Amino acid sequence: MKNTTTTAPITITEKLKWLENRYWKFGDEENLADNLFDLYEVDDDGRMTSQPRRDPLTGETRGLMVLGASGNGKTALLKRALRVDSVLTKFRINHDGTTLFITVPPDATIKKLAEIILAKTGYTKIDAKLRSADAWEIARHRFGLVGIKTVVIDECHHIMRPGSGRDVLGAIQSLKHIMQSDPGVALIIAGVPSLKDAILSEPSGETYRRFQELHLTRIRLGSKAAGLFGKNLMKSAKTLGVELAVEDALPERIIFAEHGQVGKSVALGKEILRDAVSRKRDTISLANADRVFKKSTPGLDMTPFHSADWDVVKAELNAIGWVQG
Ligand SMILES: Nc1ncnc2c1ncn2[C@@H]1O[C@H](COP(=O)(O)OP(=O)(O)OP(=O)(O)O)[C@@H](O)[C@H]1O
Ligand SMILES: [Mg+2]
Repeated sequence: MKNTTTTAPITITEKLKWLENRYWKFGDEENLADNLFDLYEVDDDGRMTSQPRRDPLTGETRGLMVLGASGNGKTALLKRALRVDSVLTKFRINHDGTTLFITVPPDATIKKLAEIILAKTGYTKIDAKLRSADAWEIARHRFGLVGIKTVVIDECHHIMRPGSGRDVLGAIQSLKHIMQSDPGVALIIAGVPSLKDAILSEPSGETYRRFQELHLTRIRLGSKAAGLFGKNLMKSAKTLGVELAVEDALPERIIFAEHGQVGKSVALGKEILRDAVSRKRDTISLANADRVFKKSTPGLDMTPFHSADWDVVKAELNAIGWVQG
């Protein structure tokens, strides 16, 4: 583990910055680590090394697919792994890192993706007439040359978009070829659930079977993730010097308000804390939270932050059709 401790923030500016940068664990960090563990060789102490595991008969490495609806925290989760995992160090030209992190732009074709890889690995002789297959061949070769052991492709579904001039099958196979490159890189792709469907559209299924899958889901009330969310909120509040009454059940109300959507729940939780810090308040009441929520979701008579017992408010909101998180 890299050392990520920071000193406690004191001024308002320090506190707000600290809060903004806070990653809130929600339980899938362990699942990701467990899945990553399978992609690499282990040493005699059973520790994961940065050497991708290769099938000795085919020389192929393995892949991991991270799937979840938009806002479920895929990017945040993967970027955190790059910050804290000593194996997944971020690759930058002329630095030691071994993990190349690519975010696919919405309109990218597979050729464009290869060109992005070439540029990120310091290849400057990109010829506009370069064919896609050739660009990919050079890209795969570059991994070995510059010491890349892992490639993360975020928003990978973008290269699978059908349409004229787009080659979905070619895109699927270029992923497979990454796992067949020499000297071998582990591949992590992330995207919305339709990414899996796109990869499954390959009739032979040869690319799909090379991937393990990790699905990120919503936070359900009462789950371990919900418990972790509550702890994060309380811990952050403590560091920031603001008090929350446990009996207000603020974490549950936030999760409920945002239908368990990780990104939105974290964002609302942070906004409620930010509201208190920036206005120099040292306690957060339900009325404060209600006001913050109504700014992003106007037009509601009753919100989950209504000042009454949480069980009563929940029952009432369920009765009027608020889908529970
Ligand atoms: N665990 C977390 N701690 C703190 N912030 C988080 C966490 N998870 C998500 N967020 C925040 O929520 C927002 C949405 O998360 P993120 O961008 O990771 O979702 P995503 O699944 O990658 O969505 P998309 O498919 O739209 O790219 C981001 O602003 C992110 O910083
Ligand atoms: Mg994302």
